[in-house]
Amino acid sequence: METRTHAFWQHIDQRLETARRDSLYREMPHDAEGLLNFADNDYLGLAREERLSKVFADAVRQQGAGAGAARLILGTQGAHMRLEKELAAFKSKEAALVYGSGYAANLGIVSALVGEGDLVLEDKLNHASLIDAARLSGAEMRVYPHKNMKRLEELLQTHQHVEKKLIITDSVFSMDGDVAPLKELVALKNKYGALLMIDEAHGTGVFGENGEGLAAAEGVEADIDIAMGTLSKALGLFGGFVAGRKALINYLINFSRPFIFATAPPPGLMTAGSYALGLVRQEPERRRRLWEIVKRVQAFLSDLGLETSESASPIIPIMLGKEARALEWARHLRGQGLLIPAIRYPTVKKGQARLRLTLSARHTDKDLEVLFSAFQSAKELL
Ligand SMILES: Cc1ncc(COP(=O)(O)O)c(C=O)c1O
Repeated sequence: METRTHAFWQHIDQRLETARRDSLYREMPHDAEGLLNFADNDYLGLAREERLSKVFADAVRQQGAGAGAARLILGTQGAHMRLEKELAAFKSKEAALVYGSGYAANLGIVSALVGEGDLVLEDKLNHASLIDAARLSGAEMRVYPHKNMKRLEELLQTHQHVEKKLIITDSVFSMDGDVAPLKELVALKNKYGALLMIDEAHGTGVFGENGEGLAAAEGVEADIDIAMGTLSKALGLFGGFVAGRKALINYLINFSRPFIFATAPPPGLMTAGSYALGLVRQEPERRRRLWEIVKRVQAFLSDLGLETSESASPIIPIMLGKEARALEWARHLRGQGLLIPAIRYPTVKKGQARLRLTLSARHTDKDLEVLFSAFQSAKELL
C-alpha cells in the first residue's frame, strides 16, 4: 500500500519536473487584472455588457441561484425550454438541448451516438473535447490530417462497410483560427452516407448574417446533421448546446449520460442566454466592428512579417515555433501591458508554439494602437 502511494507521488513529481524543464509547465494567470485583454473568446464584447449582466442578476434574484437537480428530475424550467426553442430557431433546426458546458455537450453527443463497431472521423486539429468524446464512445476513431479532404475520402472508402460513420469537425479551429471546408465535407458525407457534426463554438455569433455560424454563412446549414455550439464564447456566458432533428434531441435526452447525470444549468443563466442571443441577432454592428478590427490587425501583422497561419477569424495565431520563444514574446508583451497567451504542447504540437491573439468588438482604436506598438517593439527586440 505504502509503496503504491509512493509511486503515485513519484509519478506526479516527475511529470511536473519534465513539464518545467520543457517550458511546458502551466500556471493559472492570476495577475491579469489591469492588462489589456487580447486573450479571451468574448468576440462581441458581451461578457461585460451592462444590460446582459443586469438581466442575469435580475434573473438570479427572481429564479434563484441554482437549478437544484438534473433536468430529468426537476431542473427543467421555463427558462431552459425557452432558450432551447430559440437556439433551435437560430440554427434553423427542429430542436435544441443545452448542456452544462461545451465540453460536456461534445462528450454527451458523441458518446451517446456512436459506440463499438461504429466509426468516427475527426480533423487532426479538432478541439480536445471532440477527441475525448470519441475515445469515451468506444467507437473506432480515425484522425485525418488537417482539412485534408482527399485523406478523409480514402478513409470513407476503406470503411464503406461500416454502417454508422460520423464525421466531426470544428467549424473554426480554436488554436489556428482557420475554417473547415464545410461544402466539401457535406459533399463527402452525402456521397458516403455519413453524418456530419460541426462544433461551432467559435463560429456562433461571429459568422453569418445574424451570427448563426459558419454553416449559415456558407449556405450549408440544412446539411449539418448535428450543430453544436456554446454560450461561452461570443454569447459571453457559459454553457454548451446542440441543435438538430427532434428525434436526435429526444435520443440525447434519453441516452446522453453527461446530460442525464448532471445538475441542470441555473435558470438565470438560461434567461441570460436568451437575452445574449437577442443581442447577437439584433446588434449586427458588433459583428461589423469585429470584422473591421480583424482585417486591420491581419494587415498590420502581415506588414510586420509575422506568420499568422491561415487564420480567417478573430482568432489569430502568431507562429513562433519553440516553446521558450513563445513564452519570451508573451512575457515581453505582458511587460507592455498586454495579455496574449503563449499556446504550447499539448494544446498544439511540440515545436508549433504560438501566441494566440483574439479580437473582440469591444477593442477600441486606442487598444489597437497599444497592440501595434507592443508588437513592433517585440519584433525589434526579440
Ligand atoms: C472548439 C471548441 N469546442 C468546445 C469547447 C468547449 O466549450 P466550453 O468552454 O463551453 O466548455 C471549446 C472551448 O473551450 C472550443 O474551443
